[in-house]
Amino acid sequence: MPTDPETLTAPSLTFYDLAPDTGNRTAEILAGLTAPQKVLSPKYLYDHRGSQLFEQITQLPEYYPTRTELALFERYGADMAAAIGADAAILELGSGNATKIRLLLEHLHPQAYVSIDISKEFLRASGEDLVEAFPWLDVHLLCLDYTSPWTLPEALQDLNLAAFYPGSTIGNFEPDRALAFLSDLRHKVAPRGWLLIGVDLRKDPVILNAAYNDAQGVTAEFNLNLLSHINRLANADFDLNHFRHVAFYDEQLGRIEMHLEASCAHEVTVAGHRVSFVEGERIHTENSYKYTLDGFRDLAARAGFSTLDVWTDERDYFSVHLLRGGT
Ligand code: AVJ
Repeated sequence: MPTDPETLTAPSLTFYDLAPDTGNRTAEILAGLTAPQKVLSPKYLYDHRGSQLFEQITQLPEYYPTRTELALFERYGADMAAAIGADAAILELGSGNATKIRLLLEHLHPQAYVSIDISKEFLRASGEDLVEAFPWLDVHLLCLDYTSPWTLPEALQDLNLAAFYPGSTIGNFEPDRALAFLSDLRHKVAPRGWLLIGVDLRKDPVILNAAYNDAQGVTAEFNLNLLSHINRLANADFDLNHFRHVAFYDEQLGRIEMHLEASCAHEVTVAGHRVSFVEGERIHTENSYKYTLDGFRDLAARAGFSTLDVWTDERDYFSVHLLRGGT
C-alpha cells in the first residue's frame, strides 16, 4: 500500500492516501448489482455532494441523532475526557466534518488526532479547519475505506489510542459484521485502548420512519445521489429520474432499511455490463440498526470490551458508550 505521508500547509498536519483503487471498487459495485437482491454499500453515499447532503440531514427537524448526540458531548464531554485522560491519541473513524470531536478536544488535549475518512476532499478540508482552530494539535489524516481490512501507518502504531466512532455509524453493519468490526478495533487500540462510540437506540417507529423520510426530501436526494457517485466511479449511466427513495423501519430486525426503487422497467450500463431492472425492483443501499442499551453492551462484551460508562438523553433516543479494550 502507498503510505508516503504528505505534509500539508501546516506543520502539524499529515495526509496519508490509502484510498482503494478503482478496479476493486468497480468489481464490488458490479457484484452488488448482479446479485439476486441488488445492493450497494452505504459508503458510496459519501462523495463530496453526499457528504454535504448528510450535513444537511443532520440539521433536519426530523433527524434527531446528531443533535441528541451533540448535546451528550456538550453536557458530558468533560466527564468523557476525564475518564480517558490526556496521554491518549484520538483515532476517529469516518470523521466527516469533525464537529463532534471539537467538543472533546477542548477537554481532552490528546497527544494526537488521527482522522479516517473515505472522502478525500472532505477529510483535507476538515483537517485544515481543525489545525486552524486547535494550533497545538498534531493532526494525521488517513484517507481509506475502514470497512475493508486496514492497518495504521507505522508512524502511528505506538500511540495509546482512544478510538472515537460517533454518529451510530456502527448501525450500518449487520450484527455479525458489527461484532467482527468491534473485535478488530479492540485489537487495534490494544493494549491500553478505549472506544467512545455513539449508538442510536430503538424507539417509536413513527419517530424512526420520520427521521429517514424527511418532509424536505433531503434524505431522498442523499440516497439518489449515490447513483451519480456510482456513475462516476464505475462508468455507469443510472438515470436518477428512474428511481425513488424508499426507507422504512423493520421492527423485527430493529433496523431502518433504505432502498432505491426503479419506477419503470429499464436497463443500465455499468462498466460495460448491462444491468436490468423490473418495475418496482429495489437496490438496497443502507441498513441502520438500532440497539437497546443492554443489546449494545452485550455486543461490546462479546468483542472483548468492558463498558465503563454509558450516557443517554432524557428521552433515551441516543447513547454514548465508553468502552475499555485493555488494561
Ligand atoms: C451516518 C449511518 C449514522 O444511519 O442515520 C442518515 C446515515 N442515512 N439518513 C444513519 C443516514 C440516512 C446515518 N449514519
